[in-house]
Amino acid sequence: MPLDKFVDALPIPSVITPVGNRNGNPYYEVEMKQVQQKLHRDLKPTTLWGYNGMYPGPTFEVRRNQPIYVKWENQLPFEHLLPVDRTVHGAELDRPSVRTVVHLHGGRNRPENDGYPEAWFTRNFKNVGPKFLHEVYYYPNGQRPATLWYHDHAIGITRLNVYAGLAGFYLIRDDEEEMLNLPRGNYEIPLLIQDRSFYLSGEQFGELFYPSQPNQAALPDPSPPIDSSLPRPSVVPEFFGNTALVNGKVWPFLEVEPRKYRFRILNGSNARFYRLRLSSGQEFIQIGTDGGFLVKPVFVPHREGLLLGPAERADVIVDFSKHAGQKIILTNDSPSPFPSGDPRNPALPQIMEFRVSKNLTEPDKSVIPATLSCLERLNPKGVPVRQNILTEIDDPEFPGRLKPLLNDMMWSELPITETPYNGTVEIWELYNLTGDNHPMHLHLVHFQVLNHAPITIDKNKNITHVGPPREPPANEKGWKDTVGVNPKEVTRIIARFGPFTGIYPWHCHNLEHEDHEMMRPYEVLQNPE
Ligand code: C2O
Ligand code: CU
Repeated sequence: MPLDKFVDALPIPSVITPVGNRNGNPYYEVEMKQVQQKLHRDLKPTTLWGYNGMYPGPTFEVRRNQPIYVKWENQLPFEHLLPVDRTVHGAELDRPSVRTVVHLHGGRNRPENDGYPEAWFTRNFKNVGPKFLHEVYYYPNGQRPATLWYHDHAIGITRLNVYAGLAGFYLIRDDEEEMLNLPRGNYEIPLLIQDRSFYLSGEQFGELFYPSQPNQAALPDPSPPIDSSLPRPSVVPEFFGNTALVNGKVWPFLEVEPRKYRFRILNGSNARFYRLRLSSGQEFIQIGTDGGFLVKPVFVPHREGLLLGPAERADVIVDFSKHAGQKIILTNDSPSPFPSGDPRNPALPQIMEFRVSKNLTEPDKSVIPATLSCLERLNPKGVPVRQNILTEIDDPEFPGRLKPLLNDMMWSELPITETPYNGTVEIWELYNLTGDNHPMHLHLVHFQVLNHAPITIDKNKNITHVGPPREPPANEKGWKDTVGVNPKEVTRIIARFGPFTGIYPWHCHNLEHEDHEMMRPYEVLQNPE
Protein backbone atom coordinates (compact mmCIF):
# COMPACT_ATOMS: atom_id res chain seq x y z
CA MET A 1 0.00 0.00 0.00
CA PRO A 2 1.49 3.32 -0.99
CA LEU A 3 2.00 5.93 1.68
CA ASP A 4 -0.58 8.70 1.95
CA LYS A 5 0.55 12.14 0.92
CA PHE A 6 0.44 15.35 2.92
CA VAL A 7 -0.37 13.80 6.29
CA ASP A 8 2.72 14.98 8.20
CA ALA A 9 3.79 18.55 8.90
CA LEU A 10 7.06 19.73 7.41
CA PRO A 11 9.77 19.66 10.08
CA ILE A 12 12.26 22.52 10.25
CA PRO A 13 15.68 21.37 11.40
CA SER A 14 16.78 23.07 14.61
CA VAL A 15 19.70 25.49 14.64
CA ILE A 16 22.84 24.18 16.31
CA THR A 17 24.44 26.14 19.15
CA PRO A 18 28.14 26.14 19.97
CA VAL A 19 29.32 24.13 22.96
CA GLY A 20 32.14 26.54 23.77
CA ASN A 21 34.90 28.71 22.44
CA ARG A 22 38.18 28.09 20.76
CA ASN A 23 40.66 30.91 20.10
CA GLY A 24 37.80 33.29 20.78
CA ASN A 25 35.58 31.73 18.13
CA PRO A 26 32.46 29.59 18.49
CA TYR A 27 33.25 25.90 18.83
CA TYR A 28 30.74 23.22 17.86
CA GLU A 29 30.65 19.48 18.31
CA VAL A 30 28.64 17.21 16.06
CA GLU A 31 28.26 13.48 16.58
CA MET A 32 27.14 11.20 13.80
CA LYS A 33 24.83 8.61 15.30
CA GLN A 34 22.45 5.91 14.27
CA VAL A 35 18.87 6.79 15.19
CA GLN A 36 15.30 5.69 14.67
CA GLN A 37 13.17 8.48 13.29
CA LYS A 38 9.57 8.63 12.21
CA LEU A 39 9.42 9.73 8.58
CA HIS A 40 5.72 9.23 7.93
CA ARG A 41 2.53 8.75 9.94
CA ASP A 42 2.14 5.14 8.78
CA LEU A 43 5.77 4.04 8.91
CA LYS A 44 7.55 2.54 11.86
CA PRO A 45 10.56 4.63 12.88
CA THR A 46 13.27 4.25 10.22
CA THR A 47 16.89 3.44 11.04
CA LEU A 48 18.97 6.39 9.86
CA TRP A 49 22.29 8.09 10.35
CA GLY A 50 22.11 11.66 11.52
CA TYR A 51 24.40 14.48 12.55
CA ASN A 52 23.72 14.87 16.27
CA GLY A 53 21.25 12.07 15.77
CA MET A 54 19.03 14.18 13.49
CA TYR A 55 17.98 13.72 9.89
CA PRO A 56 18.48 16.21 8.34
CA GLY A 57 21.31 17.43 10.53
CA PRO A 58 21.02 20.65 12.55
CA THR A 59 21.28 23.91 10.61
CA PHE A 60 24.38 26.05 11.08
CA GLU A 61 23.65 29.78 11.12
CA VAL A 62 26.88 31.74 10.82
CA ARG A 63 27.93 35.31 10.09
CA ARG A 64 30.22 36.29 7.27
CA ASN A 65 33.85 36.59 8.46
CA GLN A 66 33.03 35.05 11.83
CA PRO A 67 35.14 31.88 11.87
CA ILE A 68 33.91 28.78 13.63
CA TYR A 69 35.42 25.47 14.66
CA VAL A 70 33.61 22.16 14.36
CA LYS A 71 34.63 18.81 15.74
CA TRP A 72 32.93 16.15 13.64
CA GLU A 73 32.75 12.85 15.49
CA ASN A 74 31.75 9.42 14.33
CA GLN A 75 29.65 7.37 16.78
CA LEU A 76 28.14 5.16 14.11
CA PRO A 77 27.96 1.35 14.23
CA PHE A 78 30.80 -0.69 12.74
CA GLU A 79 28.64 -2.24 10.05
CA HIS A 80 27.03 -0.22 7.31
CA LEU A 81 23.28 0.22 7.12
CA LEU A 82 23.31 -0.18 3.33
CA PRO A 83 24.96 -2.50 0.80
CA VAL A 84 28.67 -1.59 0.42
CA ASP A 85 30.32 -2.50 -2.88
CA ARG A 86 33.89 -3.52 -2.06
CA THR A 87 35.02 -3.23 -5.68
CA VAL A 88 34.79 0.56 -5.97
CA HIS A 89 37.67 2.90 -5.25
CA GLY A 90 38.52 3.34 -1.61
CA ALA A 91 35.94 0.84 -0.35
CA GLU A 92 38.08 -2.28 -0.73
CA LEU A 93 37.79 -5.12 1.75
CA ASP A 94 40.71 -3.95 3.88
CA ARG A 95 38.89 -0.68 4.58
CA PRO A 96 36.48 -0.33 7.46
CA SER A 97 32.91 -0.58 6.22
CA VAL A 98 31.81 2.61 8.01
CA ARG A 99 33.99 5.62 7.32
CA THR A 100 32.98 9.28 7.38
CA VAL A 101 34.36 12.69 6.48
CA VAL A 102 32.37 15.91 6.28
CA HIS A 103 32.46 18.30 3.35
CA LEU A 104 31.00 21.77 3.60
CA HIS A 105 29.59 22.10 0.08
CA GLY A 106 30.15 25.62 -1.26
CA GLY A 107 32.56 26.53 1.53
CA ARG A 108 35.85 28.26 0.82
CA ASN A 109 38.10 26.34 3.11
CA ARG A 110 41.68 25.17 3.26
CA PRO A 111 42.20 21.63 1.96
CA GLU A 112 42.70 20.22 5.45
CA ASN A 113 39.24 21.49 6.45
CA ASP A 114 37.45 20.70 3.23
CA GLY A 115 36.64 17.07 3.90
CA TYR A 116 38.87 15.29 1.41
CA PRO A 117 37.36 11.89 0.46
CA GLU A 118 40.45 10.11 1.80
CA ALA A 119 40.56 12.10 5.04
CA TRP A 120 37.93 9.77 6.51
CA PHE A 121 37.76 8.56 10.08
CA THR A 122 35.93 5.79 11.88
CA ARG A 123 34.22 5.61 15.24
CA ASN A 124 36.24 7.49 17.88
CA PHE A 125 38.91 8.16 15.22
CA LYS A 126 40.11 4.58 15.71
CA ASN A 127 41.05 4.26 12.04
CA VAL A 128 41.72 7.15 9.70
CA GLY A 129 42.22 7.49 5.96
CA PRO A 130 45.56 8.25 4.28
CA LYS A 131 44.76 11.97 3.99
CA PHE A 132 43.36 12.46 7.50
CA LEU A 133 44.99 15.43 9.26
CA HIS A 134 43.02 16.61 12.26
CA GLU A 135 39.80 16.18 14.21
CA VAL A 136 38.60 19.78 14.43
CA TYR A 137 37.72 21.70 11.28
CA TYR A 138 38.08 25.46 10.89
CA TYR A 139 35.65 27.41 8.71
CA PRO A 140 36.58 31.08 8.24
CA ASN A 141 33.23 31.94 6.55
CA GLY A 142 35.00 34.63 4.54
CA GLN A 143 32.52 34.55 1.69
CA ARG A 144 29.23 35.95 0.46
CA PRO A 145 26.07 35.06 2.36
CA ALA A 146 24.68 31.90 0.79
CA THR A 147 22.89 28.60 1.28
CA LEU A 148 25.60 26.00 1.82
CA TRP A 149 25.14 22.45 2.97
CA TYR A 150 27.29 19.89 4.67
CA HIS A 151 27.25 16.22 3.85
CA ASP A 152 29.36 13.13 4.02
CA HIS A 153 32.11 12.62 1.43
CA ALA A 154 33.90 9.38 2.35
CA ILE A 155 35.57 7.77 -0.64
CA GLY A 156 33.56 4.95 -2.24
CA ILE A 157 30.53 5.20 0.09
CA THR A 158 29.39 8.82 -0.18
CA ARG A 159 26.16 7.72 -1.91
CA LEU A 160 25.34 5.40 0.99
CA ASN A 161 26.30 7.76 3.80
CA VAL A 162 24.25 10.62 2.37
CA TYR A 163 21.34 8.28 1.62
CA ALA A 164 21.45 7.09 5.24
CA GLY A 165 20.84 10.70 6.30
CA LEU A 166 24.15 12.54 6.63
CA ALA A 167 23.29 16.01 5.28
CA GLY A 168 22.33 19.40 6.71
CA PHE A 169 22.09 23.13 5.96
CA TYR A 170 24.78 25.72 6.60
CA LEU A 171 23.62 29.31 6.12
CA ILE A 172 25.99 32.25 5.92
CA ARG A 173 24.45 35.66 6.63
CA ASP A 174 25.65 39.24 6.75
CA ASP A 175 24.43 42.79 7.48
CA GLU A 176 23.88 43.64 3.85
CA GLU A 177 21.46 40.77 3.54
CA GLU A 178 19.50 41.98 6.55
CA MET A 179 19.11 45.42 4.97
CA LEU A 180 17.28 43.83 2.05
CA ASN A 181 14.25 43.23 4.28
CA LEU A 182 13.49 39.80 2.87
CA PRO A 183 10.98 37.49 4.58
CA ARG A 184 12.73 36.16 7.69
CA GLY A 185 12.19 34.36 10.98
CA ASN A 186 9.16 32.09 10.68
CA TYR A 187 8.84 33.16 7.06
CA GLU A 188 12.24 31.90 5.93
CA ILE A 189 12.33 28.14 5.57
CA PRO A 190 14.95 25.73 4.22
CA LEU A 191 13.63 22.87 2.08
CA LEU A 192 15.87 19.85 1.57
CA ILE A 193 14.35 17.67 -1.16
CA GLN A 194 15.41 14.02 -1.39
CA ASP A 195 14.02 10.81 -2.81
CA ARG A 196 14.04 7.53 -0.91
CA SER A 197 12.45 4.08 -1.10
CA PHE A 198 11.16 2.08 1.86
CA TYR A 199 10.32 -1.49 2.69
CA LEU A 200 6.55 -1.34 3.04
CA SER A 201 6.01 -4.87 4.30
CA GLY A 202 7.77 -7.76 5.99
CA GLU A 203 10.39 -7.78 8.66
CA GLN A 204 12.13 -4.68 7.38
CA PHE A 205 8.93 -2.62 7.26
CA GLY A 206 9.78 1.08 7.43
CA GLU A 207 13.48 0.68 6.69
CA LEU A 208 15.32 2.41 3.87
CA PHE A 209 15.74 0.45 0.69
CA TYR A 210 18.80 0.87 -1.51
CA PRO A 211 19.42 -1.50 -4.44
CA SER A 212 22.34 -3.91 -4.25
CA GLN A 213 22.74 -4.32 -8.01
CA PRO A 214 21.90 -2.39 -11.17
CA ASN A 215 18.57 -3.20 -12.83
CA GLN A 216 16.82 -3.56 -9.52
CA ALA A 217 13.68 -1.54 -9.23
CA ALA A 218 13.30 1.44 -6.92
CA LEU A 219 11.02 -0.76 -4.85
CA PRO A 220 12.21 -3.50 -2.55
CA ASP A 221 11.73 -6.79 -4.33
CA PRO A 222 11.85 -10.07 -2.36
CA SER A 223 13.49 -11.86 -5.29
CA PRO A 224 15.37 -9.25 -7.29
CA PRO A 225 16.96 -10.23 -10.59
CA ILE A 226 20.55 -11.15 -9.80
CA ASP A 227 23.31 -10.46 -12.26
CA SER A 228 25.95 -13.05 -11.46
CA SER A 229 28.57 -11.33 -13.61
CA LEU A 230 28.55 -8.38 -11.25
CA PRO A 231 29.66 -8.17 -7.64
CA ARG A 232 26.97 -8.31 -5.02
CA PRO A 233 26.48 -5.71 -3.77
CA SER A 234 27.41 -3.65 -6.79
CA VAL A 235 27.29 0.09 -7.25
CA VAL A 236 24.33 1.14 -9.41
CA PRO A 237 24.54 3.74 -12.20
CA GLU A 238 22.15 6.02 -10.33
CA PHE A 239 19.46 5.73 -7.69
CA PHE A 240 15.91 7.05 -8.00
CA GLY A 241 13.58 6.54 -5.05
CA ASN A 242 9.80 6.30 -5.36
CA THR A 243 9.04 8.62 -2.41
CA ALA A 244 9.72 12.33 -1.98
CA LEU A 245 10.93 13.66 1.35
CA VAL A 246 11.35 17.26 2.40
CA ASN A 247 13.41 17.95 5.52
CA GLY A 248 13.19 14.26 6.32
CA LYS A 249 9.40 13.82 6.09
CA VAL A 250 7.57 11.91 3.40
CA TRP A 251 5.39 14.21 1.23
CA PRO A 252 4.85 16.75 4.00
CA PHE A 253 2.54 19.76 4.19
CA LEU A 254 3.31 23.23 5.45
CA GLU A 255 0.68 25.61 6.78
CA VAL A 256 1.44 29.14 5.70
CA GLU A 257 0.00 32.62 6.03
CA PRO A 258 -1.20 34.59 3.00
CA ARG A 259 2.06 36.52 2.60
CA LYS A 260 5.58 36.26 1.20
CA TYR A 261 7.90 33.44 2.22
CA ARG A 262 11.54 32.83 1.49
CA PHE A 263 12.47 29.21 0.76
CA ARG A 264 16.01 27.96 0.43
CA ILE A 265 15.56 24.93 -1.76
CA LEU A 266 18.31 22.30 -1.87
CA ASN A 267 18.26 19.21 -4.05
CA GLY A 268 20.01 16.74 -1.74
CA SER A 269 19.10 13.67 -3.78
CA ASN A 270 21.65 11.13 -4.96
CA ALA A 271 20.80 11.36 -8.65
CA ARG A 272 17.35 12.82 -9.22
CA PHE A 273 16.75 16.18 -10.92
CA TYR A 274 13.65 18.20 -10.09
CA ARG A 275 11.76 20.64 -12.26
CA LEU A 276 9.61 22.36 -9.70
CA ARG A 277 6.39 24.29 -10.13
CA LEU A 278 3.56 25.51 -7.96
CA SER A 279 0.15 24.05 -8.83
CA SER A 280 -1.40 27.51 -8.36
CA GLY A 281 0.36 28.59 -11.54
CA GLN A 282 2.45 31.15 -9.64
CA GLU A 283 6.05 31.75 -10.47
CA PHE A 284 9.04 31.44 -8.20
CA ILE A 285 10.92 34.66 -7.66
CA GLN A 286 14.50 33.46 -7.46
CA ILE A 287 16.86 35.67 -5.46
CA GLY A 288 19.87 33.43 -5.04
CA THR A 289 21.87 30.52 -6.42
CA ASP A 290 24.51 28.19 -4.95
CA GLY A 291 26.87 31.09 -4.21
CA GLY A 292 24.41 33.64 -2.84
CA PHE A 293 22.33 36.50 -4.21
CA LEU A 294 21.71 37.21 -7.85
CA VAL A 295 22.09 40.81 -9.06
CA LYS A 296 18.32 41.16 -9.13
CA PRO A 297 15.35 38.86 -8.64
CA VAL A 298 14.59 36.51 -11.51
CA PHE A 299 10.99 35.57 -12.22
CA VAL A 300 11.11 31.89 -13.13
CA PRO A 301 8.23 31.40 -15.56
CA HIS A 302 5.75 28.70 -14.57
CA ARG A 303 6.05 27.22 -18.03
CA GLU A 304 9.79 26.63 -17.59
CA GLY A 305 9.80 25.49 -14.00
CA LEU A 306 12.68 25.65 -11.57
CA LEU A 307 15.27 23.05 -12.52
CA LEU A 308 17.59 21.74 -9.82
CA GLY A 309 20.17 19.02 -10.29
CA PRO A 310 21.69 17.20 -7.33
CA ALA A 311 23.45 19.64 -4.93
CA GLU A 312 22.08 22.78 -6.60
CA ARG A 313 20.32 25.39 -4.48
CA ALA A 314 17.71 27.99 -5.30
CA ASP A 315 16.86 30.79 -2.89
CA VAL A 316 13.31 31.82 -3.79
CA ILE A 317 10.44 34.00 -2.68
CA VAL A 318 6.88 32.72 -3.01
CA ASP A 319 4.02 35.11 -2.46
CA PHE A 320 0.93 33.41 -1.05
CA SER A 321 -0.95 36.66 -0.42
CA LYS A 322 -3.49 36.12 -3.19
CA HIS A 323 -4.04 32.47 -2.33
CA ALA A 324 -5.68 32.45 1.10
CA GLY A 325 -7.56 29.23 1.71
CA GLN A 326 -5.85 27.34 -1.13
CA LYS A 327 -3.82 24.18 -1.14
CA ILE A 328 -0.82 24.50 -3.43
CA ILE A 329 1.24 21.52 -4.47
CA LEU A 330 4.94 21.72 -5.20
CA THR A 331 5.14 19.59 -8.35
CA ASN A 332 7.94 17.99 -10.32
CA ASP A 333 8.03 16.72 -13.88
CA SER A 334 11.74 16.08 -14.36
CA PRO A 335 12.52 12.80 -16.10
CA SER A 336 15.03 10.40 -14.53
CA PRO A 337 17.74 10.19 -15.60
CA PHE A 338 17.73 13.76 -16.79
CA PRO A 339 16.91 14.78 -19.46
CA SER A 340 16.00 11.70 -21.51
CA GLY A 341 14.28 9.66 -18.81
CA ASP A 342 13.64 5.96 -18.55
CA PRO A 343 10.06 4.81 -18.00
CA ARG A 344 11.29 2.20 -15.53
CA ASN A 345 12.23 4.92 -13.08
CA PRO A 346 9.44 6.17 -10.84
CA ALA A 347 8.19 9.69 -11.50
CA LEU A 348 7.73 11.90 -8.46
CA PRO A 349 5.03 14.29 -9.68
CA GLN A 350 4.34 15.72 -6.21
CA ILE A 351 6.81 16.86 -3.58
CA MET A 352 4.90 18.65 -0.84
CA GLU A 353 1.83 20.79 -0.15
CA PHE A 354 1.52 24.38 1.00
CA ARG A 355 -1.74 25.12 2.82
CA VAL A 356 -2.53 28.78 2.93
CA SER A 357 -4.65 28.10 5.98
CA LYS A 358 -3.23 30.41 8.63
CA ASN A 359 -4.33 33.93 9.35
CA LEU A 360 -1.95 36.78 8.78
CA THR A 361 -0.38 37.44 12.17
CA GLU A 362 1.00 40.83 11.20
CA PRO A 363 1.13 42.90 8.00
CA ASP A 364 3.78 41.60 5.61
CA LYS A 365 6.40 44.33 5.52
CA SER A 366 9.01 42.26 3.71
CA VAL A 367 9.88 43.24 0.17
CA ILE A 368 11.14 41.83 -3.09
CA PRO A 369 14.04 44.21 -3.62
CA ALA A 370 14.65 45.61 -7.11
CA THR A 371 18.36 44.87 -6.74
CA LEU A 372 19.96 42.36 -4.44
CA SER A 373 23.70 42.52 -4.69
CA CYS A 374 26.74 43.36 -6.77
CA LEU A 375 28.27 40.56 -8.70
CA GLU A 376 31.74 40.76 -10.17
CA ARG A 377 31.62 39.47 -13.74
CA LEU A 378 34.75 37.47 -14.52
CA ASN A 379 36.19 38.51 -17.87
CA PRO A 380 36.84 35.59 -20.24
CA LYS A 381 39.22 37.59 -22.51
CA GLY A 382 42.65 36.01 -22.80
CA VAL A 383 42.06 33.57 -20.00
CA PRO A 384 43.55 30.03 -20.14
CA VAL A 385 41.03 27.42 -21.26
CA ARG A 386 41.05 23.88 -19.97
CA GLN A 387 39.18 21.25 -21.91
CA ASN A 388 37.65 18.47 -19.85
CA ILE A 389 35.62 15.56 -21.10
CA LEU A 390 32.89 13.63 -19.34
CA THR A 391 32.77 10.06 -20.58
CA GLU A 392 31.36 6.67 -19.76
CA ILE A 393 33.11 3.37 -20.39
CA ASP A 394 32.22 -0.24 -19.87
CA ASP A 395 33.83 -1.17 -16.54
CA PRO A 396 36.88 -3.23 -17.62
CA GLU A 397 36.71 -5.30 -14.42
CA PHE A 398 33.00 -5.96 -14.67
CA PRO A 399 31.76 -5.75 -18.25
CA GLY A 400 28.15 -4.73 -18.41
CA ARG A 401 28.54 -2.12 -15.71
CA LEU A 402 29.02 1.50 -16.66
CA LYS A 403 31.92 3.49 -15.33
CA PRO A 404 31.71 7.27 -15.74
CA LEU A 405 35.02 9.16 -15.92
CA LEU A 406 36.47 12.65 -16.12
CA ASN A 407 39.11 13.11 -18.81
CA ASP A 408 39.19 9.31 -19.17
CA MET A 409 41.06 9.05 -15.88
CA MET A 410 40.30 7.43 -12.59
CA TRP A 411 40.31 9.18 -9.23
CA SER A 412 43.74 7.94 -8.15
CA GLU A 413 45.58 8.21 -11.47
CA LEU A 414 48.62 10.43 -11.37
CA PRO A 415 49.64 13.03 -12.22
CA ILE A 416 47.01 15.50 -11.18
CA THR A 417 46.18 17.07 -14.52
CA GLU A 418 44.15 20.16 -13.52
CA THR A 419 46.55 22.58 -11.84
CA PRO A 420 45.43 26.22 -11.85
CA TYR A 421 47.63 28.84 -10.15
CA ASN A 422 46.38 30.49 -7.02
CA GLY A 423 44.63 33.77 -7.79
CA THR A 424 44.28 33.16 -11.51
CA VAL A 425 41.15 32.96 -13.62
CA GLU A 426 40.54 29.97 -15.88
CA ILE A 427 37.79 28.80 -18.18
CA TRP A 428 36.89 25.15 -17.81
CA GLU A 429 35.08 23.58 -20.72
CA LEU A 430 33.04 20.54 -19.75
CA TYR A 431 32.33 18.38 -22.79
CA ASN A 432 29.66 15.81 -22.07
CA LEU A 433 30.11 12.80 -24.36
CA THR A 434 27.55 10.68 -22.49
CA GLY A 435 23.79 10.36 -22.78
CA ASP A 436 22.82 11.95 -19.46
CA ASN A 437 23.19 15.30 -17.75
CA HIS A 438 25.95 15.40 -15.11
CA PRO A 439 25.72 17.96 -12.30
CA MET A 440 29.38 18.99 -12.09
CA HIS A 441 30.79 20.41 -8.87
CA LEU A 442 34.12 22.03 -8.05
CA HIS A 443 35.25 22.33 -4.47
CA LEU A 444 36.77 25.58 -3.12
CA VAL A 445 35.56 27.96 -5.84
CA HIS A 446 32.37 29.47 -7.08
CA PHE A 447 32.17 29.93 -10.81
CA GLN A 448 30.06 31.66 -13.43
CA VAL A 449 28.47 29.85 -16.33
CA LEU A 450 29.57 31.45 -19.61
CA ASN A 451 27.45 29.39 -21.98
CA HIS A 452 26.27 25.99 -23.17
CA ALA A 453 26.85 24.87 -26.77
CA PRO A 454 25.83 21.81 -28.78
CA ILE A 455 28.56 19.43 -29.96
CA THR A 456 28.81 16.20 -31.89
CA ILE A 457 31.33 13.48 -31.21
CA ASP A 458 32.56 10.85 -33.64
CA LYS A 459 33.75 7.42 -32.55
CA ASN A 460 37.35 8.61 -32.15
CA LYS A 461 36.04 11.16 -29.69
CA ASN A 462 36.67 14.03 -32.08
CA ILE A 463 34.43 16.86 -31.06
CA THR A 464 32.71 19.14 -33.55
CA HIS A 465 30.85 22.25 -32.53
CA VAL A 466 27.51 22.25 -34.26
CA GLY A 467 25.78 25.31 -33.01
CA PRO A 468 26.21 28.71 -31.50
CA PRO A 469 26.59 28.91 -27.74
CA ARG A 470 23.47 29.53 -25.69
CA GLU A 471 23.55 32.01 -22.86
CA PRO A 472 22.78 30.49 -19.49
CA PRO A 473 19.24 31.13 -18.24
CA ALA A 474 18.85 34.21 -16.03
CA ASN A 475 18.79 32.15 -12.84
CA GLU A 476 22.08 30.48 -13.77
CA LYS A 477 23.89 33.81 -13.97
CA GLY A 478 24.76 34.02 -10.31
CA TRP A 479 27.70 32.36 -8.56
CA LYS A 480 27.46 28.60 -8.85
CA ASP A 481 29.37 25.65 -7.46
CA THR A 482 27.41 22.97 -9.29
CA VAL A 483 26.14 23.11 -12.85
CA GLY A 484 24.19 20.66 -14.96
CA VAL A 485 26.05 19.71 -18.14
CA ASN A 486 23.67 18.45 -20.80
CA PRO A 487 24.47 15.46 -23.00
CA LYS A 488 26.07 16.39 -26.34
CA GLU A 489 26.87 19.84 -25.08
CA VAL A 490 29.85 21.74 -23.78
CA THR A 491 29.27 23.92 -20.74
CA ARG A 492 31.84 26.66 -20.20
CA ILE A 493 32.47 27.95 -16.72
CA ILE A 494 34.88 30.59 -15.45
CA ALA A 495 36.38 30.78 -11.99
CA ARG A 496 39.13 32.47 -10.05
CA PHE A 497 41.05 29.71 -8.31
CA GLY A 498 42.18 30.20 -4.74
CA PRO A 499 42.49 31.80 -2.24
CA PHE A 500 44.11 28.62 -0.90
CA THR A 501 46.58 26.25 -2.48
CA GLY A 502 46.33 22.49 -2.28
CA ILE A 503 44.38 19.53 -3.57
CA TYR A 504 40.59 19.55 -3.92
CA PRO A 505 38.11 17.27 -5.65
CA TRP A 506 35.97 18.11 -8.64
CA HIS A 507 33.30 15.65 -9.55
CA CYS A 508 29.86 14.77 -10.75
CA HIS A 509 27.36 15.23 -7.91
CA ASN A 510 25.32 12.26 -9.04
CA LEU A 511 26.56 10.39 -5.96
CA GLU A 512 26.61 7.02 -7.68
CA HIS A 513 28.84 8.52 -10.37
CA GLU A 514 31.05 10.23 -7.82
CA ASP A 515 31.60 6.95 -5.98
CA HIS A 516 32.37 5.14 -9.19
CA GLU A 517 35.24 7.22 -10.55
CA MET A 518 33.55 10.35 -11.89
CA MET A 519 35.73 12.39 -9.57
CA ARG A 520 39.23 13.78 -9.95
CA PRO A 521 41.55 15.77 -7.73
CA TYR A 522 42.71 19.20 -8.90
CA GLU A 523 45.53 21.19 -7.37
CA VAL A 524 45.72 24.92 -6.84
CA LEU A 525 49.42 25.70 -7.20
CA GLN A 526 51.40 28.44 -5.57
CA ASN A 527 51.71 31.28 -8.05
CA PRO A 528 55.37 31.41 -9.19
CA GLU A 529 55.49 35.23 -9.27
CU1 C2O B 1 28.59 18.28 -2.30
CU2 C2O B 1 32.32 17.10 -3.34
O1 C2O B 1 30.42 17.61 -2.79
CU1 CU C 1 27.45 12.10 -13.50
